[in-house]
Amino acid sequence: MHRRITGKLVIATHNPGKLAEMRELLAPHGVEAVSAGDLGLGEPDETGTDFRSNAAIKAIAAAQATKLPAFADDSGIVVDALDGAPGIYSARWAGPAKDFNAAMAQIERLLQERGATTPDRRTAHFVSALCVAWPDDHLEEVEARVDGTLVWPPRGTAGFGYDPMFLPDGHTRTFGEMESIEKHGLPPLGLGLSHRARAFVKLAEICLEPR
Ligand code: IMP
Repeated sequence: MHRRITGKLVIATHNPGKLAEMRELLAPHGVEAVSAGDLGLGEPDETGTDFRSNAAIKAIAAAQATKLPAFADDSGIVVDALDGAPGIYSARWAGPAKDFNAAMAQIERLLQERGATTPDRRTAHFVSALCVAWPDDHLEEVEARVDGTLVWPPRGTAGFGYDPMFLPDGHTRTFGEMESIEKHGLPPLGLGLSHRARAFVKLAEICLEPR
């Protein structure tokens, strides 16, 4: 049985951008989002071997510490020709300076080394795993992806991370060339295109009161 989120929800992130995005998405459903940062919670080590388990580790730690339902996400980019790298290490590839130009250049270097120069050899997808954990150990988990190809040189200055290199299937502009509403926006305003938007739609279906 799926469980609905009502009342207060802890957002287990220290990233202000993610918190703002979640608050906006949850407000119409009558859910009040409080952040792990505001509650002074630490960040657990992400020791999982996939996106889903890392999201669960973060949500469970916050639910146990606060005795409230807690939400966490984990995401990254999976490059087929690189055997799935950087995957769950997507943030780490940018190093402590969070240099995503360097991380994208690293991906390109490895693709060139493997002779992946045509679009059919340069396929990739973004993954978003979402987890809500309750203090009694109940979990709700969803995962979604968006498929595309990697372009070089990177295009556009919008978004973050690997966006300028990622051309979603069926589109002519990279995520770096799209407004946030086009990339992440949910219908009726947006297309619900990104991995995060798609995962959120799934979570809303099972865990949120209809608006
Ligand atoms: P985390 O989910 O906070 O662990 O971060 C995962 C990393 O994946 C981010 O730092 C980005 O590098 C990358 N990533 C996840 N989602 C996106 C996206 O929508 N666009 C670009 N990069 C992303």
